[in-house]
Amino acid sequence: TPVTNAKPIKAVPTLPDAQTVTFVKHWTDRLFHFRCTRPQSLRFRSGEFVMIGLMGDPDPKTGKQKPILRAYSIASPSWDDELEFYSIKVPDGPLTSKLQAIQPGDEIILRPKPVGTLVHDALLPGKRIWFFATGTGFAPFASLLRDPQTYEDYDEVIITHTCREVGELAYGAELIDSIRNDDLLAELMGEGFHEKLRYYPTTTREQSPKMGRITDLMRSGEVFDDLGVETIHPDRDRAMVCGNLAFNLEIKDMLEEYGLREGANSDPKEYVVEKAFVD
Ligand code: A2P
Repeated sequence: TPVTNAKPIKAVPTLPDAQTVTFVKHWTDRLFHFRCTRPQSLRFRSGEFVMIGLMGDPDPKTGKQKPILRAYSIASPSWDDELEFYSIKVPDGPLTSKLQAIQPGDEIILRPKPVGTLVHDALLPGKRIWFFATGTGFAPFASLLRDPQTYEDYDEVIITHTCREVGELAYGAELIDSIRNDDLLAELMGEGFHEKLRYYPTTTREQSPKMGRITDLMRSGEVFDDLGVETIHPDRDRAMVCGNLAFNLEIKDMLEEYGLREGANSDPKEYVVEKAFVD
């Protein structure tokens, strides 16, 4: 009987669920986005999030390293070959203090189990959809705005983005610009999408063409006047919300007052909310 002494060759251990960074762009001293390879098996619905991260420093006693993982909305659409993420940089944040230093060619950890409530399946059919974002809460909408289904399902798509400063709007503004002007993207989004997409950026702490919190601008009716649309009504309007906690709570109350009810994957209704995850 043949005997072999050859031991199986052990692969060099790499990060678990490793993906390779392909692109990084810094927008402000607090914001950046990056792209990475996508596992072939990863299927997700636009608007969902996954856990991503990096290995932590070795434990001084045991030398063991543990992954530091956080929930990140996938900012790329489901048809994209790569994955995109939009992140804040917190100087002493356990993950983002390290993540902000990544370069193309570096590896990140990506747990391929997408979940989330900001999905079309969680909403009943409607005429108009509102995407309400503050800060990095724009990320899931960067995915949904590049998903042809968004324009198939609605006659009108309104994205509002409130940030403290003008520079914080740039990632979103450039993305909207590329959807409108990139022929290939435009073709993907289908005919007539140009007229459907409305973009309403506002700032609260730096001068810009439209100032104020979106919530206040809705209460005063200014948003509806500016856009030339009727106020929100449950027969017609659907909404997805992603921002900081105080914003989410406030706008949730407002949407309830308009008569919209919170939906879920298993029980679609008129609006859904998700926290913009911050480190
Ligand atoms: P403001 O500058 O008036 O606090 P942050 O960077 O703190 O997450 O905030 C992002 C944006 O969300 C800021 O423009 C901030 O406005 C706004 N914001 C914070 N809380 C609320 C809220 N309850 N309703 C509406 N907008 C809010």
